[in-house]
Amino acid sequence: MTILLLSGSPSTPSRSSRLLHYAGDKLKALGYHTVSLNVKDLPAQALLHADFTHPELIAAKQKLAEAKAIVIATPIYKASYSGLLKTFLDILPQDGLHGKLVLPLATGGSQSHLLALDYALRPVLAALSADHVLPSVYATDVQVDWSEQHGLQIDPSIIKRLHEGVHYLAARLISLHEPELSTAPVMRMQNRCSA
Ligand SMILES: Cc1cc2nc3c(=O)[nH]c(=O)nc-3n(C[C@H](O)[C@H](O)[C@H](O)COP(=O)(O)O)c2cc1C
Repeated sequence: MTILLLSGSPSTPSRSSRLLHYAGDKLKALGYHTVSLNVKDLPAQALLHADFTHPELIAAKQKLAEAKAIVIATPIYKASYSGLLKTFLDILPQDGLHGKLVLPLATGGSQSHLLALDYALRPVLAALSADHVLPSVYATDVQVDWSEQHGLQIDPSIIKRLHEGVHYLAARLISLHEPELSTAPVMRMQNRCSA
């Protein structure tokens, strides 16, 4: 079962991508196969012109179509998810997320836009027919730090949220696709966001 790790940050290095790959590593440890897609690596002109026929965009959409679940990570830009991510969501078919689970992650400069994933991204995912959008994880810049000396340092509250998100995603996947393996009731997360 493949899970797509979709990054919508135009930056390198990227805090939101680091959160994404942290979650991806946890999913791999649970036995899932993950594939990565960075929207910034796709041809910009084709994205901006919504060129549905471009071979690289077709290949990217195919990657998404083959995944049972998607972890989407975005920076918060101007109180919303990134425009780069929107250019990719715009070229998906209307039911492009049908049958898929989605775990949204975001990083922002402050807590001011803690709810941006819920008020901005979630309606778009619903319009694309996502089966289930899991509670999102939001971290501020100070909660996701990286240095040569210490490597990736994520605030313990965010690590906890990421672990919950990953386990919730795995439990939902099992109950949907391998119900005979589902022994425990699907866990409920209590809060939607952290910061
Ligand atoms: C153009 C731009 C707009 C931004 N707008 C916001 C914003 O509205 N709210 C916020 O909390 N952070 C904002 N930020 C800060 C980024 O969301 C934050 O630094 C984020 O962690 C960057 O993620 P990345 O490293 O994955 O690109 C903005 C940053 C940039 C460059």
